Amino acid sequence: MAFLQSSCIVLTTTPHHHTSPSSESFSANPSHFFTHPNRTHRLQVSCNSSEKQTPQGKLDRRNMLLGLGGLYGASNLASSPHGNAAPIKPPELNKCGEARDVASGDLLDVNCCPPLTDTIIDYKLPNFTKLRVRPPAHKVNKEYLAKFEEAIRRMKALDKSDPTDPRGFMQQANIHCAYCNGAYDQVGYPNIDIQVHESWLFFPFHRWYLYFYERILGELIDDPTFALPFWNWDNPKGMQMPKIFDTESSPLYNKNRNQANRPPTLIDLGFSGASDDLQVVVNNLTIMYSEMIRSVNSTLDFMGQPYIAGQLPRPGMGSSERGSHIAAHVFVGDPRNKYSEDMGNFYSAGRDTLFYSHHANVDRMWSIWKTLKTDVPKEINNPDYLNASFLFYDEKKRLVRVKVADSLDYKKMGYEYEKVDIPWLNYKPSKKAAKSKIRKIPSDAKKAEELFPITLNKTVRVLVNKSAKGQADEVLVLEDIETDTTKFIKFDVFVNDEDDEANELDRAEYAGTFAQVPHKTKAKKGKSTISLKLTELYEDIDIADDDTVVLTIIPRSNGGDVTIGGIKIIPSPTKSA
Ligand code: C2O
Repeated sequence: MAFLQSSCIVLTTTPHHHTSPSSESFSANPSHFFTHPNRTHRLQVSCNSSEKQTPQGKLDRRNMLLGLGGLYGASNLASSPHGNAAPIKPPELNKCGEARDVASGDLLDVNCCPPLTDTIIDYKLPNFTKLRVRPPAHKVNKEYLAKFEEAIRRMKALDKSDPTDPRGFMQQANIHCAYCNGAYDQVGYPNIDIQVHESWLFFPFHRWYLYFYERILGELIDDPTFALPFWNWDNPKGMQMPKIFDTESSPLYNKNRNQANRPPTLIDLGFSGASDDLQVVVNNLTIMYSEMIRSVNSTLDFMGQPYIAGQLPRPGMGSSERGSHIAAHVFVGDPRNKYSEDMGNFYSAGRDTLFYSHHANVDRMWSIWKTLKTDVPKEINNPDYLNASFLFYDEKKRLVRVKVADSLDYKKMGYEYEKVDIPWLNYKPSKKAAKSKIRKIPSDAKKAEELFPITLNKTVRVLVNKSAKGQADEVLVLEDIETDTTKFIKFDVFVNDEDDEANELDRAEYAGTFAQVPHKTKAKKGKSTISLKLTELYEDIDIADDDTVVLTIIPRSNGGDVTIGGIKIIPSPTKSA
């Protein structure tokens, strides 16, 4: 079960590129962002794929089922005779504990526990007369900005006037810390954290978080129509930190940001290190198209992997979370700070006003994805997903319990997004003008059976049989990828490509990237299996008569610390969750 708990392995469709100053800082920063807590007073949590033991040994079987779900959809879970309903339950606030850095396991010098209240109310979405419309941050007018700034000013003022008011700015920021840095255990599993990243809870949790944050801001300025601005990083017009957040006298300003990335620096969603602005924009659009459409073979590929009660956290990120979402965190986080605070670490991310606008766009991506006419089902019907729940304080300081099921339709939550262009929607790499000449590919390409397992200390070319000729609906599976978990690892995969030096991503042959950020695990080696959707790629590189393709695997970082067990092309597995 190689893909079991492959939580810390990141498969991105973002570009690779050569070692450059920016890829250096990528390797340094995200390690803080992504790794497991290691608490001395608790069992260490591991995301090592080979780890099957949990403190509750009886759960192993379930975890194994989940492992299957990881690759092929988890629909078997709900109907499994062995699977009892086990949605993640809301935390017990009175048991809130210490927060730790998820990469190093260091105890953090923060108390991010919320105030306690006796009564918990089951939240009912209120009626509304008008949808709140979230505008793109780069386009807001003066009047809007004045309101937004005033709301933030008042929220920050609460920190001083009543630090225990759960609507205060630091209290709001601490929500993220508590849910993400191990302050809460799962109810009934005192050694297992609640973690809202790297699983199917990622989108719903953050939607609810922003929902209350927005309503609190509206309450503080007595304007129930107030809507958060979104950082439109998927559009060239929004590919810098929005200027409203970069005015030093504004309450939206935060000095804990990467100074080199202040406007007009363009965000590089793929850490490509491309120096030419046009190439950065083109790469960004390619990445957006890839993580939203091209490489996404199943519901969970996009949403993230199943995560239920008793399961170790971080079973696996969806394409959006591991792609553009993380890129923006790393872009804004301040490398001068130990843990890349604020945006570069879970515990502090909510202290940056820009965090909420970043996540508004992440949320918008979820809403756009649901409207795409692709063959991937857009809903997860598993009750363990729908019934997962969280606690928040609402704008009236009431402690409320909310369910994932109530967050699926944002319009029912009373808001929508201002319509702007979506320039990546059809951003396909240009088709090969001529058929890619497989017969011309150098004769150093060997058959997979002869080559694997293989250590990636140099570029590998390998012949792989398709399951059928031509443009079949197929998926590339790289099996038993074994990595040194303490290293930053990245390699790229191209199909029928003659060029070893792929500096540009907007090419038809680019199939995807494997990336792993350094993380703490019990075992130093982690194993995982990844799959990449090939269907559209086949359409773009005419292979109509071929029953074999040549894969080129290019190591970008620490290839010598990666072994790939096997490689195969199989018919596309189940797409639904
Ligand atoms: Cu909860 Cu973008 O992190």
